[in-house]
Amino acid sequence: MPKTARPKVIVSRRLPQAVETRMAELFDVELNFDDTPFDQARLIDAVRRADVFVPTVTDHVDAAVLAEAGEKLKLIANFGVGIDHIDLHAAREKNIVVTNTPGVLTDDTADMVMALILSVPRRIAEGEKIIREGSWAGWSPTGMLGHRITGKRLGIIGMGRIGQAVATRARGFGLAVHYHNRERLPASVEAGLEATWWPTLEAMLTRVDIVSINCPHTPETHHLINDKALRLMQRHVYLINTARGEIVDEAALAAALSRRGIAGAGLDVFEHEPKIHPDLLNLPNVVLVPHMGSATFEGRQAMGDKVIANIQVWKDGHRPPDQVLE
Ligand code: DGY
Repeated sequence: MPKTARPKVIVSRRLPQAVETRMAELFDVELNFDDTPFDQARLIDAVRRADVFVPTVTDHVDAAVLAEAGEKLKLIANFGVGIDHIDLHAAREKNIVVTNTPGVLTDDTADMVMALILSVPRRIAEGEKIIREGSWAGWSPTGMLGHRITGKRLGIIGMGRIGQAVATRARGFGLAVHYHNRERLPASVEAGLEATWWPTLEAMLTRVDIVSINCPHTPETHHLINDKALRLMQRHVYLINTARGEIVDEAALAAALSRRGIAGAGLDVFEHEPKIHPDLLNLPNVVLVPHMGSATFEGRQAMGDKVIANIQVWKDGHRPPDQVLE
């Protein structure tokens, strides 16, 4: 690709206005004005015609789609940090570089974890519903009791950027931080976070009061929280998932919540988005929010800026800063 060329960039969803405007200045950009997620036919059309494709989590850029990519497609610049919707192996086979947007949504996602950690045990959504339905009869000494956060043990699964940002916030709320990660953090980082490492997930699950999932979705973490894992948790445990829905076996979770095997859940992500397991919709001990961990104006702008930077650096013939390694 000559350095002066304006690469054909196809974007699958509407992005913040300033991002779209900048893209139009820099690239031969094709925007998706109707903002509906691409179906397979539109994905195939995009990977055939684009030099650069900008998908999001709603696009399944799998091996079948990438098999249709022509010689033209050189870069998939994902708008988002999670890349489990892209077949990295198939991309590498075709020498297509993949980038993502790490770092800029860490704080927003960690804030969402804390919002859910506070909302579920303190029954915020239930209380809000009671007021809106007009069924609140006023303050009572025994009304709307929930569980205290301070002094509880939080078990973080996945201690990367977001897990560590959760740990920092959690300490401020007086939670004792425990974590399970394939690799133990360096001693100085662990000491700074005052976090206790558990070499096995199973052991940690039996000991903590709140579980927060903050690892990526990979073949190894698919259904990591399944019936067996849920049965290891104590009955008073709250499960928080802001990572990827597929890490949790949603049917097993709904069953565990229904039988009060665990106390509640706060979910920002779902196994079959935007579909939600019907049982979850009817359970009062669950707070459900629509995959909005990174949904701040600032975060989405920064994600867009990263997508543009990745495309520009690639266009200039260099390795993009956020190239994902297979
Ligand atoms: C991310 O960046 O991975 C968010 O979940 C949106 O895709």
